[in-house]
Order: sequence, then structure tokens, then C-alpha cells
Amino acid sequence: MKPLPISLLAILLSAGRAAALGGFTPDFDGRAGSAFSPRAVIEEAASAGGLLPVLPGDPERAGAVWVSMERSDVSALDGALFKRAPVAQNKRLAVYEFESGELERLADGMQRTFARGPGFFAHDTLESALEDLKAPPALPARAYTLDQAQKVKDLLPLVSEEKIVSVIKGLAAFKNRGSRYATGIDASKWLQREWAAFAAGYPGVTVEPFKHAAFPQESVILTVRGASEPEKVVIIGGHIDSVAGYGDNPAPGADDNASGAAVTQEAARALLASGYRPAKTIKFIGFAAEEAGLRGSGDIAAAFQQAGVKVEGMLNLDMVNYKGSEKDIYFVSDNTSADQNAFLGRLVETYLGLGWGTLKCGYACSDHASWTKKGYPASYAFESTFEQHNPYIHKATDTLDKCGGNARQALNFARLAAAYAVELAK
Ligand code: BES
Ligand code: ZN
Repeated sequence: MKPLPISLLAILLSAGRAAALGGFTPDFDGRAGSAFSPRAVIEEAASAGGLLPVLPGDPERAGAVWVSMERSDVSALDGALFKRAPVAQNKRLAVYEFESGELERLADGMQRTFARGPGFFAHDTLESALEDLKAPPALPARAYTLDQAQKVKDLLPLVSEEKIVSVIKGLAAFKNRGSRYATGIDASKWLQREWAAFAAGYPGVTVEPFKHAAFPQESVILTVRGASEPEKVVIIGGHIDSVAGYGDNPAPGADDNASGAAVTQEAARALLASGYRPAKTIKFIGFAAEEAGLRGSGDIAAAFQQAGVKVEGMLNLDMVNYKGSEKDIYFVSDNTSADQNAFLGRLVETYLGLGWGTLKCGYACSDHASWTKKGYPASYAFESTFEQHNPYIHKATDTLDKCGGNARQALNFARLAAAYAVELAK
């Protein structure tokens, strides 16, 4: 796809922006605009040679990006980050236009301002950002059953703590895994090779990169094709990127989130090694660019929704190796499916014999939120209460030794992920 000249791009973007606001029937107060639809502008531009965003391979090139975030967070932040008025807003959320090169500064500003990160969604198009202002679709009720005890019991002993440790070490060895930095691109490629190596030779199993238009780091998807209902998909994943402040800094991200990526990999490896073939399709995903505003998962969830993929459930694993609280496993209760959370709690009790608790992020804090937003049942398994989470994250000090140099805690989550796969993809 040929990039458009910047001037034409700017015209198209401003046309798209005005159109989006005009063509939308919002539950928010957007600024006035003209009457044509944003989709038409985007499609027209695409057929004329491509619109936006065109950044792969060139991390320095600036492009527009739209960010949705809590209005209360905006008012607490340094006003210099928000030179412009919001493009649109509702009671709770506001959408701002940024240059993609400014996102890191925004994330860093948030990190400094809040004891907890406020979270924000970054979008390649204004149209997609405006979707955030609508309430997420209500989830239909569904029944969850536990009746695969033998298969789960055969599988659990295959899940290896040692293998989790080795993946965490491999990922944490990159200087950082930033979605716009060379080492972040390399880390994704390395993970793709690792996954392809253990998946080789299994029929119906593929490992593929998912490329993103707006940043060069690729997400990684390992697919185990379902034997009888392949169109139904169960997703287990965690983000592969890492961050520490603003810039190309050392960011080992051993807990946030080499741990979740390693657990995702080990659940997949053990499942294949057990010889188990699910009825439904299972996708194990390493998400790119979570720290840049849930961008990798946002792209993938949007693509799946667009393609009509039937996502039966999504389990997010992000920070799973630090024992900060009394219980072993906690589930995030906001921006997740209450029914699926209860199902996961039963899996923990039944198959792991462990206790579990709940916590609230209070904002769209990780990749589960991308799936919830698209109307899919998503859950987020976490290492501790919110207050007692690993204090070393988002710094050069997020190393494995802070988690005791082992993966004892992460092992529980890998076993949970394996049990979840078997009981949901049956
Ligand atoms: N792993 C964190 C989320 C997290 C941190 C959850 C502490 C619970 C306790 C995640 O990678 C992250 O940093 N998220 C960002 C938001 C994202 C949208 C940029 C955050 O929390 O600020
Ligand atoms: Zn994280």
C-alpha cells in the first residue's frame, strides 16, 4: 500500500473527523460536523490507494491517533498534555486527537500523576475511538459446566514451572519490548520462533504474526483448530510488550508481562503435548502494544468482530508471578464478564484446590477490556489485590528476582489457563 502524501492525508483525516461526528447518533456531545459517513470517506480513500495509518518499519513517522480516556483523569493530568479540546465526549469519557509519537509522553505523564495507571484506549481511526463512547453490548447469559475432570487431571501435571521461568528469562533479556522499538520488534519475532518450534508437527496447529498498521511490533497467534466446532473460538492471552517511562529505556517487564506471555505459551505447549484436540478452536495470543493503549488487542478484537468470529470467551493474563496478597489468584471484576469470572473461580477451587479473590481496576487497565468492549465475555486473572500489586512494574527493576527468581505463582495461572481451555473449548 502506497502511503498518501501528508497534505492529502490531513485533508482526508479532517474530512473523516467532521463526517464521523455528523453521521453518528451519539449518547455524547460531539462538535457539529457535516453529513457524510466516516466509513465512506475511509473506504473511498482506501480504494484510492490507502488511507491510514501507515507506520510499520518506521517508528519515527508521526501519524494521528485518537485516545479515549476518563474525563476525571484528564483533569488531574498536566494540562500541557492536552493542548486541544476533546473531539467528543460523554459524561464519563473524552476522545482526544494525538500524534502517535506523543503517546509515550501521555503514558508516562499518567504513570507519574497517578498512584495507579488511569488507562487509555488508543485508536487508529476517529470512528473507532467514538465507539468507546457507547455502552458495551450486553452479554447474553450462558451456562458454564465442569465435566472434563479426567482430561484436566491428565493435562495439569504436564504444565512446567521450569519452562515458564525460561520464557520469562528469554523475554526479559531484551532491553525493552516497546512496541515502537527495535528490541520490541525482535522480542515478538523471538516469541514467534519459540511458539512455532513447539507447535511444529501438530496437525491443525498454526503460529502466525498479526501485523498492526500503526506500529511495527507484531502480535503472535497460535491457533489450535477445533475438531467439531472450529468456528467457535476460545482465547487465552497476555501482552508481550513492556514499558518503563518515556523512551527507549531498559524495561525487562519480567512480571508485567513476560509472566502472562510465558503462561500463555506454557498452557499452549502443555495442551499440545497432552495430545488433546479440542472441539472448538483455541487461540493463544501474545498481544503487542498493550502499554501504548491496548492497541494490539484493540486491533485484533475489532478484526474478529468485523469478521464475525464467535468468541466463546477470553482470558487475559497480565502480571501473574508476584505473590503480593494472601490468596493465589484474583479476578478483576470490572470490564469483565461476571458469569465467566464465576466459572473461573469454580475452576480454581475444583482443579487447583486454591482460594481466589477479586479486585477492581476502576479503568480499562489491560487487554480484556478490548474484548469486553466488543461484546465478548472476557476475564482477567491477576496476581494480587490492586493495592498490593508488584511495586516494581514499569521500571528497570521489574525483574524475575523480585518474584523470588521462580515461577511458583505463575504456574497456578498456567494450570488455570489449561483447565479453562479444556472446559470451555469442549
Ligand atoms: N499490567 C498493567 C495493568 C495493571 C497494573 C493492573 C497494576 C493492575 C495493577 C498494564 O500493563 C498497564 O500498565 N496498563 C496501563 C493501561 C494501558 C491502557 C496503557 C495502566 O494501568 O496504566
Ligand atoms: Zn501489563
